[in-house]
Amino acid sequence: MTLLDVQNLTVTFPSRQGPQQVVRNVSFMLGRERLGIVGESGSGKSQTGRAILGLTPAPGRATADTLAFDGIDLRGASAKQWRALRGARMSMVMQDPKFSLNPVMTIGRQLAEAARRVASSRAEQRERAVAMLEAVQIRDPARVMAAYPHELSGGMGQRAMIAMMLITEPDLLIADEPTSALDVTVQIEVLRILDDLVTTRGMGLIFISHDLRLVSSFCDRVLVMYAGRVVEELRATELQQAQHPYTRGLMGCLPRIDGNTRPLATLQRDEAWAL
Ligand SMILES: Nc1ncnc2c1ncn2[C@@H]1O[C@H](COP(=O)(O)OP(=O)(O)OP(=O)(O)O)[C@@H](O)[C@H]1O
Ligand SMILES: [Mg+2]
Repeated sequence: MTLLDVQNLTVTFPSRQGPQQVVRNVSFMLGRERLGIVGESGSGKSQTGRAILGLTPAPGRATADTLAFDGIDLRGASAKQWRALRGARMSMVMQDPKFSLNPVMTIGRQLAEAARRVASSRAEQRERAVAMLEAVQIRDPARVMAAYPHELSGGMGQRAMIAMMLITEPDLLIADEPTSALDVTVQIEVLRILDDLVTTRGMGLIFISHDLRLVSSFCDRVLVMYAGRVVEELRATELQQAQHPYTRGLMGCLPRIDGNTRPLATLQRDEAWAL
């Protein structure tokens, strides 16, 4: 089943040298699966994710021949339609939590506000917020709930943001380098939560990362971006057979992938992770 259909997505920013296309004719379909996007810094990964959610920063402009989520044409979506979709059915974990967390509101209030879409009573909202913080391995949820974003470390902020994005159980999650500031053990827990949402709740996941090794072990399919274009699309298991020289180059930069250390090996299904 197709959740997201993207055809010829292009994002353009004006510049002194004229319009610069930072995303060029990107096309893919996403079902209820894990799709990785990899590529070097500046290749257009984040701008692709943001354009899908209608969050291209001004003065940039996104265009597409098709941009459809669950059959809804996003290109002409009204503000009202976006309100019903964004943060509810489609969410994005931004690369930098600073841009997603409200600096003047406690984490607890932000989480409860997000939970309003799925829980009506305040007690229930709070309960869900605490449960999500625990799910992302925050051991002292009460303290974190009372804290403002600037009082948290980068990794804690990232986890709070992941909790906030997942609290509504979206159908589509775009996770932009969601684990880059986390310790390996916490990273594994976060991947496990994401994995569980895909396999048991049928969420579609776009997982953006520069970490080819992580993506190839965690995702089902991988898009490789270079200078705004998708230069190769592979099943994650076929990464070793990548044809494109850029992809091969990316692989060449990696330390050898040792079967024993793949994160997926620790991603067992666990009923206890049901939210
Ligand atoms: N607000 C903006 N104005 C102009 N150009 C921008 C803007 N945001 C991004 N760009 C340009 O768009 C290109 C793609 O940026 P993008 O953030 O998508 O890269 P990325 O692949 O996510 O990189 P990274 O791995 O560093 O996060 C870059 O060349 C960047 O300079
Ligand atoms: Mg980025």
